[in-house]
Amino acid sequence: MSGAALARRVAGRFRDWHGSAPEGVWHAPGRVNLIGEHTDYNSGWVLPFALDRGVVAAAARRGDGLLDIRSEQAGDRATVPLAGLGPGGVTGWAAYPAGVAWAMREAGHPVGGATLVIDSDLPQGAGLSSSAAIECAVAIALAELYQVRVPRTGLVRLARRAENEMVGVPSGIMDQSASLLGEAGHALLLDCRSGETAAVPFDPAAAGLALLVVDTGARHALTDGRYALRRQECERAARALGVPSLRDVADPARAAAIGDPVLARRARHVISDDCRVCAAADLLGAHDLAGLGPLLHASHASLRDDFEISWPQADVAAEAAERAGALGARMVGGGFGGSVIALVPAGDTAVRAAVAAGYAARGWPEPAFLAAPPSAGARRLL
Ligand code: GLA
Repeated sequence: MSGAALARRVAGRFRDWHGSAPEGVWHAPGRVNLIGEHTDYNSGWVLPFALDRGVVAAAARRGDGLLDIRSEQAGDRATVPLAGLGPGGVTGWAAYPAGVAWAMREAGHPVGGATLVIDSDLPQGAGLSSSAAIECAVAIALAELYQVRVPRTGLVRLARRAENEMVGVPSGIMDQSASLLGEAGHALLLDCRSGETAAVPFDPAAAGLALLVVDTGARHALTDGRYALRRQECERAARALGVPSLRDVADPARAAAIGDPVLARRARHVISDDCRVCAAADLLGAHDLAGLGPLLHASHASLRDDFEISWPQADVAAEAAERAGALGARMVGGGFGGSVIALVPAGDTAVRAAVAAGYAARGWPEPAFLAAPPSAGARRLL
């Protein structure tokens, strides 16, 4: 569905529920991370881009200090008083939008009540950052409705704070950055320590290629504790190496100095994926998109063997894709479920067929395939 069609649909739902038109509709995209997984909270580098799918928020101000939020996906409604709102006060899906209002008010911004209807064309739990897209759509909606003049990078931090403190997931800065700062035809090179960003041209179609997303159907939730465990392991690995964060180590071989073999593997993944992000950005700068293939392959192997967060459907999809002609393939996102990306020749059908056949042979439900053109970041649509 196009963004415009999704915006019309959510505006219609707003009218159905509330009997009047919203003041506006705002869209925030999901993201695919080209490379650099679990590097963001280690102060390293990432290279995500915004998708053409995302979350829309139809919104209007209200004067009674309440957030009245409906989610078309959850099929649910939450009414949240802004006064006294804080971490632990709201749980489940409503913690994401309410957390954004809380974080904005905590930062001293004059955000008041709002009626919100939220809709999406992004699969949930598919590793494409539907949670960050909710946060970012609500952030730009409230910022515009209440004339909060914060640069996009400030909204990124507020949306992340909502997720860290209100939802309770110790995620990094990547997903909100991709959603709010993404540009069509570009990936976003982000230095998660300095906060510096660079838009790097990324146009697979111009190189006769396409980036295919395989939604493996296995679902993941960052809230299940395994993401937080990996983060703790990385902190312990950095301490063992005597550095503030794994970003401060340039050579993956140094991970071997850690006595605990599990921590050594975790560190080797993070350090080597940081190297791969920098190599990938150089390749994009040189318009050598085919050169990305081996990096994607190596990143998947590292996530599977060293970081141990891939899952059977991801391994089968990545392997089948490469055997059928993908230049490279890897899992994306936090891990334990979600999607795989494959860099394929434009117009390719062999990769899809091979992945589908691999699933059928194991009795798994057919995966969903999504095109993933690098698209614009969050914006007002109506
Ligand atoms: C999730 C988090 C991000 C990042 C990725 C893994 O998407 O929200 O901050 O850590 O996992 O790269």
